[in-house]
Amino acid sequence: MKIQHPVYYGDYLQLPKILNAQAPESAKYGQVAHDETLFIIIHQTYELWFKQILHELESIRSLMIKPFLPSTDLAVINARLERITSIQQILIDQIQVMETMTSLDFMDFRDYLVPASGFQSLQFRLVEAFLGIKPQHRMEIERQFFNSRLKPEDKKILEEAEQKTSLLELLEAWLTRMPFSKFENFDFWGAYSGAVEKMLNNDFQIISTNPSLDEKQKALELKNLEATKETFATLLDETKFEALRTQGKIRLSQKAMLSAVFIHLYREYPALQMPYKILNNLVEIDEKFTTWRYRHAIMAQRILGTKIGTGGSSGHEYLKSTTERNRAFIDLFNLATFLIPKSSIPQLPHVIKGQLDIVYDFVQS
Ligand code: HEM
Repeated sequence: MKIQHPVYYGDYLQLPKILNAQAPESAKYGQVAHDETLFIIIHQTYELWFKQILHELESIRSLMIKPFLPSTDLAVINARLERITSIQQILIDQIQVMETMTSLDFMDFRDYLVPASGFQSLQFRLVEAFLGIKPQHRMEIERQFFNSRLKPEDKKILEEAEQKTSLLELLEAWLTRMPFSKFENFDFWGAYSGAVEKMLNNDFQIISTNPSLDEKQKALELKNLEATKETFATLLDETKFEALRTQGKIRLSQKAMLSAVFIHLYREYPALQMPYKILNNLVEIDEKFTTWRYRHAIMAQRILGTKIGTGGSSGHEYLKSTTERNRAFIDLFNLATFLIPKSSIPQLPHVIKGQLDIVYDFVQS
């Protein structure tokens, strides 16, 4: 191949544009605040990484939206999800650079920024929407802020993104398509239910005969055990499951949840290793965003105390509440409730084992 156009490093990366894109507001008021450059560059860096995350998410969506997901695609999806989690680690670590700016340093230029705020980061909102956080999951205050603080063109882009199929919905469709919620000639979920009952009866025995517990403690532990039984029953009872779903306590369908539990229980089988990795990577993404939100909330408290944000929210208190609430894959975390000890996991019939297994090793005769 003959190179037609010699490329120059600075031109290729459009560095003149990027490196001339820092314009401190404080300069416009005649007193340049030293730390404003850091503040701008950190935000720009975040926005570039958000762009990369969106790029990865878009490609993952284009693979997952297909009606059939071959294992080769699963490998690509996993590689891209892992790239996202690596970027997220950088996003978390960057907070410590931001924290080299003190509260007083920030006050040198903070007032010039009002009402601009991270609230208005369109790309951050797009990432949230991509993952599965839709308007109905948001707090009223967030919805109000989007309506009043986003530019109409940004609002339009966000609304369009919220209409598209999210990663959570694609995950649900994929898990629902799997054949693990019902097997021919094998009542797997009956066997699982039996194993759960045995495990809980064993727990009952342990509590009832524990000499170190007084009657009050015993009653409390047995009540907790009853609640655990009820939770397990929910997984296998379609009506109870749907009731929780209607209340918004679960977002995945029952079939999807059963498949996810099955994948977790038998993840060591080759056919389930990739699906398991996908579930695990999505949990990792959710956890890393939650960690970022929490670190950001603490940073905001350190820099602002209880002052309100430049965007007008209650600041630290508001940010802390989004940490708990804005979680796309919470069902995958709660799935751990339905796992049972390895020793109690039902044995699979040979036919099913054969479908999940690949053997490259042969005993020499
Ligand atoms: C001096 C450092 C910072 C402080 C004190 C701060 C403070 C705040 C506060 C108080 C809010 C709530 C909205 C408001 O009332 O303004 C907020 C939102 C936000 N900030 Fe920051 N922030 C800082 C740095 C950053 C950085 C470096 C980023 C990186 C992009 C960022 C991204 C965001 C995002 C995405 C939101 C919206 C969060 C949500 O609504 O869930 N912030 N910030």
